[in-house]
Amino acid sequence: MSATITREITTRSPEETIAFGRALADLLAPPKLVLLRGDLGAGKTTLVKGIAAAFEAAAEDDVTSPTFTLVHEYRGPRANLYHIDLYRVDTPRELETLGLDDLRSENSILLIEWGEKFPRLLQERDVEISLEREGENTRRIRIFS
Ligand SMILES: Nc1ncnc2c1ncn2[C@@H]1O[C@H](COP(=O)(O)OP(=O)(O)O)[C@@H](O)[C@H]1O
Ligand SMILES: [Mg+2]
Repeated sequence: MSATITREITTRSPEETIAFGRALADLLAPPKLVLLRGDLGAGKTTLVKGIAAAFEAAAEDDVTSPTFTLVHEYRGPRANLYHIDLYRVDTPRELETLGLDDLRSENSILLIEWGEKFPRLLQERDVEISLEREGENTRRIRIFS
């Protein structure tokens, strides 16, 4: 990956992480494939709340983890967001059946949790956002693009 850090922040509450997500609209203008990296509870889904709100695609509270449904779709006036969780997807074959290629278009943004499990997605990603838990309410967030 071309590892240039373009933004870096430490947030001290979920609200601060959401606010940071809201500020990413320009950087994430469609079309984009975005990998969200970090352990369970790092704040990946929390960040998506802010991103979805920025694109007027969903209210913060309506963004929930796609852990079981695998793909959540939020349509906004400027972009269609697809929030994808590959935690339970184990093989490239299973990944293919999700049909992510069909979701990619000029106005789509794919926000993918656990996408780094698949070399193909690591290769195709436009932006990578890493979240690390530093303390109970502290998160280090770094953006590579
Ligand atoms: N600074 C912070 N940023 C994001 N989430 C935080 C922060 N501090 C505490 N949290 C909590 O951590 C959890 C993050 O969960 P979630 O966003 O679902 O993580 P992930 O999708 O990475 O598994 C939530 O319970 C959230 O309230
Ligand atoms: Mg999540």
